[in-house]
Amino acid sequence: MKAIGYAQRGPVSADEAVVEFETDDPQPEPHDLLVEVRGVSVNPVDVKVRANRPPPDDEPRILGFDAAGVVRGVGSDVTGFDVGDEVFYAGEFTRAGSNAELQSVDERLVGRKPKSLGFADAAALPLTSITAWEILFDSFGLREGDGSGEALLVIGGAGGVGSILIQLAKQLTGLAVIATASRPETEAWVKKMGADHVVNHRNPLNEEMAALGIAPRYVATLTETEQHFPAIVELIKPRGHIAMIDDPQSIDIASIKLKALSFSWEFMFARSMFQTDDMDAQSNLLNRVSQLADEGKLMSTANKHCGPLNAANLREALTHQESGAAVGKTVLDGIG
Ligand SMILES: NC(=O)c1ccc[n+]([C@@H]2O[C@H](COP(=O)([O-])OP(=O)(O)OC[C@H]3O[C@@H](n4cnc5c(N)ncnc54)[C@H](OP(=O)(O)O)[C@@H]3O)[C@@H](O)[C@H]2O)c1
Repeated sequence: MKAIGYAQRGPVSADEAVVEFETDDPQPEPHDLLVEVRGVSVNPVDVKVRANRPPPDDEPRILGFDAAGVVRGVGSDVTGFDVGDEVFYAGEFTRAGSNAELQSVDERLVGRKPKSLGFADAAALPLTSITAWEILFDSFGLREGDGSGEALLVIGGAGGVGSILIQLAKQLTGLAVIATASRPETEAWVKKMGADHVVNHRNPLNEEMAALGIAPRYVATLTETEQHFPAIVELIKPRGHIAMIDDPQSIDIASIKLKALSFSWEFMFARSMFQTDDMDAQSNLLNRVSQLADEGKLMSTANKHCGPLNAANLREALTHQESGAAVGKTVLDGIG
């Protein structure tokens, strides 16, 4: 099959950072689906893995996590899917990725693709939806319908995760949602996603929230946590909950004691990395996301389409992602 991988660590501008090559078709393990990939999206984790992990010696490492496609084969233990099913998923951290014609993926991580979305638009959703869902319902411990009279602050609201977290919180909980955005286009985007209020993360967030007059019980800090952490501790309600997903060098965790705050570090690859008993929670939540999209309650967060998956187009998508100025998600069609 055709695939695209990296043969050199470092920034996307390096020659060997995005190379097309031929490799053997993947062979599905017992729990795997063999999927023909028809749409993918890029994520900051693509950039981080390429920066930090050397590729294997023998051939480039295939990157890519988000995918939507069609099942072409099933492993011996697969029970939930058949050949011909349309699916979407975010895969696993350690296995070969989705930037290829075919990919093997564990069925417990796979949902049914929304019928109302094309493959590329569907591929915008899995990784960020899993992250956002786990923040709301695992980290914060909310149940659907909870949260009336309380507020959620989403820091980095126009990014990939923020875009779907705002929508899920508005559709499935009673929380008021305040999103941060610093440019006219990101402010317009978070309002389109459903944010009730917008504050600017280029200003001190405690001052922005004091001016708004809302003390949120929940804060999802999605990017630049190190910069915002002291302000978060100041602006959040006592006994509130902070969920973080990025990788700060250091934060002062002792500072959360006086308000008796809770703190969670969400990592959406944890279930698959440690093969937890409840891995299929990700399949179940993706099926719910799919249903909500088909009911018109969630929109795709795709905002930039880079065309068919080839080295030039993938490099363009990754360069945009690496700029830090992405709004929503950047997607591509299958290999072409
Ligand atoms: N742990 C996990 O499971 C997990 C899952 C997914 C992602 N992540 C990580 O989470 C982070 C965010 O991912 P993403 O896909 O949402 O990123 P993204 O799409 O690249 O986020 C871009 C957004 O960040 C905003 N931003 C830039 N500087 C900011 C600042 N100083 N303060 C607040 N917001 C700022 C920008 O808004 P403006 O243009 O308005 O400034 C832009 O809309 C990444 O580090 C990613 O690796 C972790």
